[in-house]
Amino acid sequence: MPGLSADALRQMKADGRRIAMLTGYDCPTAQFVEAAGADLLLVGDTLAMVVLGFRDTHAMTMDIMLVHVGAARRGAPNTHVIADMPIHSYDTPEQAVTNARRFIEAGADSVKVEGAIPEIIRALREAGVEAMGHVGLTPQTATNTKARGRDPEEAAAIRQGARVLEQAGCYAVVLEHMPLGLAQQITADLAIPTIGIGAGPHCDGQVLVIHDLLGVFERFKPPFVKRYADLGKLAKDACRRYVDDVRAGAFPDLDHSTR
Ligand code: KIV
Repeated sequence: MPGLSADALRQMKADGRRIAMLTGYDCPTAQFVEAAGADLLLVGDTLAMVVLGFRDTHAMTMDIMLVHVGAARRGAPNTHVIADMPIHSYDTPEQAVTNARRFIEAGADSVKVEGAIPEIIRALREAGVEAMGHVGLTPQTATNTKARGRDPEEAAAIRQGARVLEQAGCYAVVLEHMPLGLAQQITADLAIPTIGIGAGPHCDGQVLVIHDLLGVFERFKPPFVKRYADLGKLAKDACRRYVDDVRAGAFPDLDHSTR
């Protein structure tokens, strides 16, 4: 397996070393992630929104994801690549195993599934596939993007869900959009690493959607996103200068012409 193994990630937690994960959906973004030295690269189904322009992740299919997992692997040959299983690709244990194997053949090292679904995790583990869990806000089934686990009952259910995922054999679990105290409790409960997104600083690792971090996705900005660059503005400026140059007859000049 290229990149970190499940055991190495567990050891990082034991040693108190933070895990840095980013999404990446194609060859260039995967190259950025690998060059930055990130520990994990997630080909997330957020691809549907930030690359393909859909409103949510429901439009994602196995066939689309497979193309992008292959591209991400080519861009990041030495990084652990996680394929996010799209909605309805793991409705039964048999379907989950069939589709996870397709992702592994396409270049993934492991898969991620949303929700506390131990029977799916157990089937994947029995088939030899490493699986990452995902609790809290789970966009494939969510009807809104509010933080989860603010009330004690929901918090207890999320905490229990994370425990169930660990017992079923997950090697790590994503905690999405929940109070930092709840994420801290779950992180203390588990021997496997927690990877937070909108879950505060006490998780074992963090993940961000790369198009949010780079300032490329402009439709909305979740409150927990930190923009490290404004590539959207840079790209628009560059395209505008090109359009202006063409209209003014300034491009191509002789330096950019074939003689
Ligand atoms: O699809 C995705 O990008 C994700 C992350 C937000 C964790 O699941």
